[in-house]
Amino acid sequence: MSGRTALRVTRAAAPLLSRSTRTSAAPISRALPAANRTFTKSAIRCNKNDVVHETEVPVSVYSADSNGAAGSTSDHFSIPVNRQDAKPQPFSTPEDADVIPLTKSVHRSMPPMMQKMSIMDKVVVITGGARGLGNHMARACAEAGAKALVIFDVNQELGDESAAELHQKTGLPVSFFKVDVRDGDAINAAVDACVETYGAPDVLINSAGIADSNIKAESYDPAMFRRLVDINLTGSFLMSQAVGRAMMKAGKPGSIVLVASMSGSIVNYPQEQSCYNASKAGVIQFGKSLAAEWAKYNIRVNCISPGYMDTALNRVPALDAQKKIWRSLTPQNRLGSVDDLNGLCVFLASDASGFMTGANVAIDGGYTLY
Ligand SMILES: NC(=O)c1ccc[n+]([C@@H]2O[C@H](COP(=O)([O-])OP(=O)(O)OC[C@H]3O[C@@H](n4cnc5c(N)ncnc54)[C@H](O)[C@@H]3O)[C@@H](O)[C@H]2O)c1
Repeated sequence: MSGRTALRVTRAAAPLLSRSTRTSAAPISRALPAANRTFTKSAIRCNKNDVVHETEVPVSVYSADSNGAAGSTSDHFSIPVNRQDAKPQPFSTPEDADVIPLTKSVHRSMPPMMQKMSIMDKVVVITGGARGLGNHMARACAEAGAKALVIFDVNQELGDESAAELHQKTGLPVSFFKVDVRDGDAINAAVDACVETYGAPDVLINSAGIADSNIKAESYDPAMFRRLVDINLTGSFLMSQAVGRAMMKAGKPGSIVLVASMSGSIVNYPQEQSCYNASKAGVIQFGKSLAAEWAKYNIRVNCISPGYMDTALNRVPALDAQKKIWRSLTPQNRLGSVDDLNGLCVFLASDASGFMTGANVAIDGGYTLY
Protein backbone atom coordinates (compact mmCIF):
# COMPACT_ATOMS: atom_id res chain seq x y z
CA MET A 1 0.00 0.00 0.00
CA SER A 2 1.43 3.38 -0.96
CA GLY A 3 1.85 6.22 1.50
CA ARG A 4 -0.85 8.16 -0.26
CA THR A 5 -3.36 5.32 -0.06
CA ALA A 6 -2.61 4.82 3.59
CA LEU A 7 -3.28 8.48 4.23
CA ARG A 8 -6.64 8.33 2.52
CA VAL A 9 -7.76 5.22 4.38
CA THR A 10 -6.93 6.87 7.65
CA ARG A 11 -8.93 9.93 6.82
CA ALA A 12 -11.94 8.03 5.66
CA ALA A 13 -11.93 5.77 8.67
CA ALA A 14 -12.23 8.87 10.78
CA PRO A 15 -14.45 10.94 8.50
CA LEU A 16 -14.60 13.03 9.26
CA LEU A 17 -12.35 14.66 11.69
CA SER A 18 -12.98 18.35 11.69
CA ARG A 19 -10.33 20.48 10.02
CA SER A 20 -9.05 21.79 13.34
CA THR A 21 -8.68 18.21 14.65
CA ARG A 22 -6.77 17.23 11.52
CA THR A 23 -4.17 19.89 12.07
CA SER A 24 -3.63 19.21 15.76
CA ALA A 25 0.00 18.32 16.46
CA ALA A 26 -0.37 15.08 18.45
CA PRO A 27 -1.52 12.51 15.81
CA ILE A 28 0.76 13.96 13.16
CA SER A 29 3.94 13.86 15.28
CA ARG A 30 3.23 10.19 16.18
CA ALA A 31 3.34 9.31 12.49
CA LEU A 32 6.47 11.32 11.69
CA PRO A 33 9.90 9.71 11.16
CA ALA A 34 12.66 10.53 13.68
CA ALA A 35 14.26 13.35 11.66
CA ASN A 36 10.98 15.19 11.42
CA ARG A 37 10.18 14.66 15.12
CA THR A 38 13.34 16.61 15.94
CA PHE A 39 12.05 19.44 13.78
CA THR A 40 8.69 19.36 15.56
CA LYS A 41 10.38 19.68 18.98
CA SER A 42 12.45 22.69 17.98
CA ALA A 43 9.32 24.33 16.55
CA ILE A 44 7.64 24.00 19.96
CA ARG A 45 10.45 26.03 21.55
CA CYS A 46 9.37 29.10 19.52
CA ASN A 47 8.33 32.05 21.62
CA LYS A 48 4.56 32.36 21.47
CA ASN A 49 4.93 36.12 21.44
CA ASP A 50 6.54 35.84 17.97
CA VAL A 51 3.15 34.94 16.49
CA VAL A 52 1.56 37.94 14.80
CA HIS A 53 -2.12 38.48 15.64
CA GLU A 54 -3.06 41.96 14.49
CA THR A 55 -6.60 43.04 15.35
CA GLU A 56 -6.78 45.47 12.46
CA VAL A 57 -5.14 46.11 9.07
CA PRO A 58 -4.22 49.71 8.11
CA VAL A 59 -5.21 50.56 4.51
CA SER A 60 -4.22 53.41 2.17
CA VAL A 61 -6.31 53.95 -0.98
CA TYR A 62 -5.30 56.32 -3.80
CA SER A 63 -7.97 56.89 -6.40
CA ALA A 64 -9.08 59.20 -9.17
CA ASP A 65 -11.61 61.96 -8.47
CA SER A 66 -15.07 62.09 -10.06
CA ASN A 67 -13.52 63.64 -13.21
CA GLY A 68 -11.11 60.70 -13.55
CA ALA A 69 -8.00 62.74 -12.59
CA ALA A 70 -5.36 60.48 -11.01
CA GLY A 71 -3.58 61.28 -7.75
CA SER A 72 -6.12 63.72 -6.40
CA THR A 73 -7.82 61.60 -3.72
CA SER A 74 -6.38 59.51 -0.92
CA ASP A 75 -7.99 57.78 2.02
CA HIS A 76 -6.48 56.13 5.08
CA PHE A 77 -8.38 53.81 7.39
CA SER A 78 -8.21 50.41 9.15
CA ILE A 79 -10.25 47.27 8.70
CA PRO A 80 -10.92 44.88 11.62
CA VAL A 81 -9.46 41.35 11.48
CA ASN A 82 -12.07 38.64 11.80
CA ARG A 83 -10.48 35.43 13.05
CA GLN A 84 -13.38 33.02 12.58
CA ASP A 85 -12.65 29.69 10.86
CA ALA A 86 -13.27 29.62 7.12
CA LYS A 87 -16.83 28.54 6.33
CA PRO A 88 -17.66 26.18 3.43
CA GLN A 89 -17.94 28.07 0.16
CA PRO A 90 -21.45 28.84 -1.12
CA PHE A 91 -22.49 26.56 -3.92
CA SER A 92 -24.51 27.41 -6.99
CA THR A 93 -25.67 25.65 -10.15
CA PRO A 94 -26.07 28.35 -12.81
CA GLU A 95 -28.10 26.13 -15.15
CA ASP A 96 -30.61 28.82 -16.09
CA ALA A 97 -28.29 31.80 -16.19
CA ASP A 98 -28.45 34.13 -19.19
CA VAL A 99 -25.75 33.90 -21.84
CA ILE A 100 -24.59 37.35 -22.95
CA PRO A 101 -22.46 37.26 -26.10
CA LEU A 102 -19.49 39.58 -26.41
CA THR A 103 -20.28 42.09 -29.16
CA LYS A 104 -17.71 43.57 -31.52
CA SER A 105 -18.30 47.07 -30.17
CA VAL A 106 -17.74 46.00 -26.56
CA HIS A 107 -14.65 44.06 -27.68
CA ARG A 108 -13.25 47.16 -29.40
CA SER A 109 -13.66 49.15 -26.19
CA MET A 110 -11.78 46.61 -24.07
CA PRO A 111 -8.13 47.14 -23.02
CA PRO A 112 -5.58 45.12 -25.07
CA MET A 113 -5.08 42.52 -22.32
CA MET A 114 -8.79 41.78 -22.08
CA GLN A 115 -9.05 41.62 -25.88
CA LYS A 116 -6.30 39.00 -25.85
CA MET A 117 -8.22 37.05 -23.22
CA SER A 118 -11.26 36.90 -25.51
CA ILE A 119 -11.86 34.49 -28.39
CA MET A 120 -13.34 37.10 -30.70
CA ASP A 121 -14.31 35.69 -34.11
CA LYS A 122 -13.07 32.19 -33.39
CA VAL A 123 -14.95 29.09 -34.55
CA VAL A 124 -15.26 26.66 -31.65
CA VAL A 125 -16.06 22.94 -31.82
CA ILE A 126 -17.19 21.41 -28.51
CA THR A 127 -17.76 17.72 -27.99
CA GLY A 128 -20.06 16.65 -25.17
CA GLY A 129 -21.61 20.11 -25.50
CA ALA A 130 -25.17 18.86 -25.05
CA ARG A 131 -24.97 19.06 -21.28
CA GLY A 132 -22.74 19.34 -18.23
CA LEU A 133 -19.26 20.84 -18.34
CA GLY A 134 -19.12 20.90 -22.17
CA ASN A 135 -22.39 22.81 -22.38
CA HIS A 136 -21.22 25.41 -19.88
CA MET A 137 -17.89 25.83 -21.67
CA ALA A 138 -19.87 26.41 -24.89
CA ARG A 139 -21.85 29.17 -23.12
CA ALA A 140 -18.62 30.70 -21.85
CA CYS A 141 -17.18 30.71 -25.37
CA ALA A 142 -20.25 32.63 -26.57
CA GLU A 143 -19.68 35.20 -23.81
CA ALA A 144 -16.00 35.42 -24.75
CA GLY A 145 -16.66 36.35 -28.39
CA ALA A 146 -16.90 33.11 -30.41
CA LYS A 147 -18.06 33.62 -34.01
CA ALA A 148 -19.85 30.26 -34.18
CA LEU A 149 -20.33 27.25 -31.91
CA VAL A 150 -20.40 23.70 -33.18
CA ILE A 151 -21.62 21.02 -30.79
CA PHE A 152 -20.75 17.36 -31.32
CA ASP A 153 -22.65 14.97 -29.06
CA VAL A 154 -24.12 11.48 -29.21
CA ASN A 155 -27.37 12.55 -27.53
CA GLN A 156 -29.66 13.73 -30.34
CA GLU A 157 -32.44 15.20 -28.21
CA LEU A 158 -30.28 17.03 -25.68
CA GLY A 159 -27.82 18.17 -28.34
CA ASP A 160 -30.58 19.69 -30.46
CA GLU A 161 -32.20 21.31 -27.45
CA SER A 162 -29.01 22.89 -26.16
CA ALA A 163 -27.97 24.14 -29.60
CA ALA A 164 -31.39 25.77 -30.05
CA GLU A 165 -31.24 27.28 -26.55
CA LEU A 166 -27.72 28.60 -27.05
CA HIS A 167 -28.68 30.17 -30.36
CA GLN A 168 -31.83 31.72 -28.88
CA LYS A 169 -29.98 33.16 -25.92
CA THR A 170 -27.04 34.56 -27.91
CA GLY A 171 -28.15 35.06 -31.51
CA LEU A 172 -24.90 33.33 -32.55
CA PRO A 173 -24.86 30.64 -35.22
CA VAL A 174 -24.86 27.29 -33.42
CA SER A 175 -24.77 23.89 -35.14
CA PHE A 176 -25.32 20.50 -33.60
CA PHE A 177 -23.91 17.32 -35.12
CA LYS A 178 -25.08 14.04 -33.70
CA VAL A 179 -21.73 12.32 -33.66
CA ASP A 180 -20.31 9.52 -31.56
CA VAL A 181 -16.66 10.38 -30.82
CA ARG A 182 -15.76 6.73 -31.49
CA ASP A 183 -16.78 7.07 -35.12
CA GLY A 184 -13.87 8.49 -37.13
CA ASP A 185 -15.73 8.65 -40.47
CA ALA A 186 -18.72 10.46 -38.96
CA ILE A 187 -16.36 12.90 -37.24
CA ASN A 188 -14.53 13.62 -40.50
CA ALA A 189 -17.81 14.24 -42.35
CA ALA A 190 -19.03 16.57 -39.59
CA VAL A 191 -15.75 18.52 -39.43
CA ASP A 192 -15.82 18.93 -43.25
CA ALA A 193 -19.37 20.29 -43.00
CA CYS A 194 -18.29 22.65 -40.23
CA VAL A 195 -15.39 23.94 -42.37
CA GLU A 196 -17.76 24.52 -45.27
CA THR A 197 -20.20 26.50 -43.15
CA TYR A 198 -17.95 28.49 -40.82
CA GLY A 199 -14.39 27.96 -42.03
CA ALA A 200 -11.77 25.82 -40.26
CA PRO A 201 -12.20 25.63 -36.49
CA ASP A 202 -9.87 27.73 -34.35
CA VAL A 203 -10.63 25.84 -31.17
CA LEU A 204 -11.56 22.29 -30.19
CA ILE A 205 -12.85 21.60 -26.70
CA ASN A 206 -13.15 17.86 -26.17
CA SER A 207 -15.43 17.27 -23.21
CA ALA A 208 -17.34 14.13 -24.35
CA GLY A 209 -16.65 11.35 -21.92
CA ILE A 210 -18.20 8.70 -19.71
CA ALA A 211 -17.35 7.31 -16.29
CA ASP A 212 -17.66 3.89 -14.68
CA SER A 213 -16.96 3.76 -11.01
CA ASN A 214 -17.30 1.29 -8.15
CA ILE A 215 -16.29 -1.58 -10.39
CA LYS A 216 -13.53 -3.84 -9.16
CA ALA A 217 -10.76 -4.57 -11.67
CA GLU A 218 -11.07 -8.31 -11.00
CA SER A 219 -14.67 -8.31 -12.20
CA TYR A 220 -14.54 -5.50 -14.79
CA ASP A 221 -16.10 -6.64 -18.05
CA PRO A 222 -13.39 -6.34 -20.75
CA ALA A 223 -15.99 -5.17 -23.27
CA MET A 224 -16.92 -2.30 -20.94
CA PHE A 225 -13.25 -1.49 -20.42
CA ARG A 226 -12.71 -1.25 -24.19
CA ARG A 227 -15.84 0.88 -24.62
CA LEU A 228 -14.79 3.42 -22.01
CA VAL A 229 -11.25 3.71 -23.36
CA ASP A 230 -12.71 4.03 -26.86
CA ILE A 231 -14.89 7.00 -25.87
CA ASN A 232 -12.54 8.81 -23.50
CA LEU A 233 -9.18 8.20 -25.14
CA THR A 234 -9.71 7.13 -28.76
CA GLY A 235 -12.44 9.79 -29.00
CA SER A 236 -9.93 12.47 -27.92
CA PHE A 237 -7.55 11.22 -30.62
CA LEU A 238 -10.14 11.03 -33.43
CA MET A 239 -11.52 14.50 -32.66
CA SER A 240 -8.06 16.07 -32.37
CA GLN A 241 -6.95 14.40 -35.60
CA ALA A 242 -9.95 15.61 -37.62
CA VAL A 243 -9.94 19.16 -36.26
CA GLY A 244 -6.12 19.36 -36.30
CA ARG A 245 -6.05 18.37 -39.98
CA ALA A 246 -8.61 21.07 -40.80
CA MET A 247 -6.50 23.67 -38.94
CA MET A 248 -3.35 22.54 -40.76
CA LYS A 249 -5.07 22.59 -44.16
CA ALA A 250 -6.27 26.13 -43.54
CA GLY A 251 -2.82 27.14 -42.24
CA LYS A 252 -4.52 28.43 -39.10
CA PRO A 253 -3.09 28.46 -35.61
CA GLY A 254 -5.35 26.54 -33.25
CA SER A 255 -5.99 25.55 -29.67
CA ILE A 256 -7.12 22.11 -28.57
CA VAL A 257 -8.43 21.72 -25.01
CA LEU A 258 -8.83 18.15 -23.81
CA VAL A 259 -10.96 17.58 -20.73
CA ALA A 260 -9.07 14.92 -18.81
CA SER A 261 -9.51 14.46 -15.06
CA MET A 262 -7.55 14.55 -11.82
CA SER A 263 -8.16 10.77 -12.00
CA GLY A 264 -5.51 10.71 -14.72
CA SER A 265 -2.91 11.68 -12.12
CA ILE A 266 -4.20 10.34 -8.80
CA VAL A 267 -6.19 7.29 -7.66
CA ASN A 268 -9.63 8.22 -6.37
CA TYR A 269 -10.87 7.16 -2.95
CA PRO A 270 -12.93 5.23 -1.95
CA GLN A 271 -14.45 4.08 -5.26
CA GLU A 272 -12.59 1.64 -7.48
CA GLN A 273 -12.44 2.84 -11.09
CA SER A 274 -9.21 1.68 -12.66
CA CYS A 275 -10.53 1.88 -16.21
CA TYR A 276 -11.65 5.51 -15.99
CA ASN A 277 -8.40 6.51 -14.30
CA ALA A 278 -6.34 4.75 -16.98
CA SER A 279 -8.35 6.36 -19.77
CA LYS A 280 -7.76 9.86 -18.37
CA ALA A 281 -4.05 9.22 -17.76
CA GLY A 282 -3.97 8.31 -21.46
CA VAL A 283 -5.69 11.59 -22.39
CA ILE A 284 -3.11 13.61 -20.45
CA GLN A 285 -0.14 11.84 -22.02
CA PHE A 286 -1.77 11.98 -25.45
CA GLY A 287 -2.26 15.73 -25.02
CA LYS A 288 1.38 16.26 -24.08
CA SER A 289 2.62 14.20 -27.03
CA LEU A 290 0.34 16.01 -29.46
CA ALA A 291 1.45 19.38 -28.08
CA ALA A 292 5.07 18.52 -28.89
CA GLU A 293 4.24 17.13 -32.35
CA TRP A 294 1.96 19.96 -33.44
CA ALA A 295 3.83 22.97 -32.07
CA LYS A 296 5.38 23.24 -35.55
CA TYR A 297 1.88 23.83 -36.96
CA ASN A 298 1.13 26.46 -34.33
CA ILE A 299 -1.51 24.20 -32.80
CA ARG A 300 -1.48 24.19 -29.01
CA VAL A 301 -2.82 21.31 -26.95
CA ASN A 302 -3.59 21.54 -23.23
CA CYS A 303 -5.58 19.49 -20.73
CA ILE A 304 -7.97 20.54 -18.01
CA SER A 305 -8.14 18.06 -15.15
CA PRO A 306 -11.29 18.61 -13.11
CA GLY A 307 -11.80 17.22 -9.64
CA TYR A 308 -15.24 16.15 -8.46
CA MET A 309 -17.86 18.26 -10.21
CA ASP A 310 -21.57 18.52 -9.55
CA THR A 311 -22.86 17.32 -12.92
CA ALA A 312 -25.32 14.62 -14.03
CA LEU A 313 -22.36 12.25 -14.21
CA ASN A 314 -22.22 12.36 -10.39
CA ARG A 315 -25.88 13.07 -9.55
CA VAL A 316 -26.62 9.44 -8.81
CA PRO A 317 -28.17 8.49 -5.43
CA ALA A 318 -25.72 5.58 -5.15
CA LEU A 319 -22.89 8.13 -4.91
CA ASP A 320 -24.39 10.22 -2.07
CA ALA A 321 -22.37 8.59 0.71
CA GLN A 322 -19.17 8.79 -1.31
CA LYS A 323 -19.75 12.45 -2.08
CA LYS A 324 -19.44 13.22 1.62
CA ILE A 325 -16.02 11.59 1.61
CA TRP A 326 -15.02 13.42 -1.61
CA ARG A 327 -15.97 16.72 -0.02
CA SER A 328 -14.07 15.94 3.16
CA LEU A 329 -10.95 15.28 1.09
CA THR A 330 -11.32 18.53 -0.87
CA PRO A 331 -9.82 21.60 0.84
CA GLN A 332 -12.61 23.82 -0.52
CA ASN A 333 -15.11 21.36 1.01
CA ARG A 334 -17.41 21.25 -2.01
CA LEU A 335 -17.88 19.70 -5.44
CA GLY A 336 -17.11 21.94 -8.41
CA SER A 337 -19.93 23.84 -10.03
CA VAL A 338 -20.76 23.15 -13.71
CA ASP A 339 -19.26 26.48 -14.72
CA ASP A 340 -16.03 26.15 -12.76
CA LEU A 341 -14.00 25.15 -15.85
CA ASN A 342 -15.17 28.11 -17.92
CA GLY A 343 -12.46 30.64 -17.08
CA LEU A 344 -9.57 28.28 -17.81
CA CYS A 345 -11.27 26.95 -20.93
CA VAL A 346 -11.61 30.44 -22.41
CA PHE A 347 -8.06 31.34 -21.40
CA LEU A 348 -6.66 28.20 -23.07
CA ALA A 349 -8.74 28.86 -26.18
CA SER A 350 -7.60 32.51 -26.32
CA ASP A 351 -4.36 34.03 -27.58
CA ALA A 352 -3.55 35.04 -23.99
CA SER A 353 -2.26 31.49 -23.46
CA GLY A 354 -0.18 31.62 -26.67
CA PHE A 355 3.02 30.24 -25.07
CA MET A 356 1.19 27.50 -23.19
CA THR A 357 1.11 24.04 -24.68
CA GLY A 358 1.32 20.53 -23.25
CA ALA A 359 0.07 21.69 -19.86
CA ASN A 360 -2.32 19.76 -17.65
CA VAL A 361 -4.10 22.09 -15.25
CA ALA A 362 -6.10 20.83 -12.27
CA ILE A 363 -9.37 22.52 -11.25
CA ASP A 364 -10.24 20.47 -8.22
CA GLY A 365 -10.86 22.69 -5.19
CA GLY A 366 -7.42 21.61 -3.97
CA TYR A 367 -8.17 17.85 -3.88
CA THR A 368 -4.82 16.84 -5.36
CA LEU A 369 -2.89 18.91 -2.81
CA TYR A 370 -3.30 16.22 -0.16
N1 LIG B 1 -18.24 15.47 -13.52
C1 LIG B 1 -17.07 15.23 -12.97
O1 LIG B 1 -16.94 15.11 -11.74
C2 LIG B 1 -15.83 15.13 -13.83
C3 LIG B 1 -14.60 15.09 -13.19
C4 LIG B 1 -13.45 14.98 -13.97
C5 LIG B 1 -13.55 14.91 -15.34
N2 LIG B 1 -14.76 14.94 -15.93
C6 LIG B 1 -14.80 14.83 -17.40
O2 LIG B 1 -15.47 15.96 -17.92
C7 LIG B 1 -16.12 15.60 -19.14
C8 LIG B 1 -17.56 16.06 -19.09
O3 LIG B 1 -18.20 15.46 -17.97
P1 LIG B 1 -19.64 15.90 -17.48
O4 LIG B 1 -19.64 15.76 -16.01
O5 LIG B 1 -20.04 17.16 -18.11
O6 LIG B 1 -20.50 14.69 -18.05
P2 LIG B 1 -21.96 14.65 -18.67
O7 LIG B 1 -22.35 13.22 -18.69
O8 LIG B 1 -22.86 15.64 -18.00
O9 LIG B 1 -21.71 15.17 -20.17
C9 LIG B 1 -20.99 14.39 -21.09
C10 LIG B 1 -21.52 14.64 -22.48
O10 LIG B 1 -20.75 13.80 -23.36
C11 LIG B 1 -21.65 13.17 -24.26
N3 LIG B 1 -21.09 11.90 -24.70
C12 LIG B 1 -20.92 10.77 -23.97
N4 LIG B 1 -20.44 9.80 -24.75
C13 LIG B 1 -20.28 10.32 -25.98
C14 LIG B 1 -19.83 9.80 -27.21
N5 LIG B 1 -19.46 8.53 -27.33
N6 LIG B 1 -19.81 10.62 -28.28
C15 LIG B 1 -20.20 11.89 -28.19
N7 LIG B 1 -20.68 12.44 -27.06
C16 LIG B 1 -20.70 11.66 -25.96
C17 LIG B 1 -22.93 12.96 -23.45
O11 LIG B 1 -24.06 12.77 -24.28
C18 LIG B 1 -22.99 14.25 -22.64
O12 LIG B 1 -23.69 15.26 -23.30
C19 LIG B 1 -15.94 14.08 -19.28
O13 LIG B 1 -14.88 13.84 -20.15
C20 LIG B 1 -15.60 13.64 -17.88
O14 LIG B 1 -14.85 12.48 -17.86
C21 LIG B 1 -15.91 15.06 -15.22
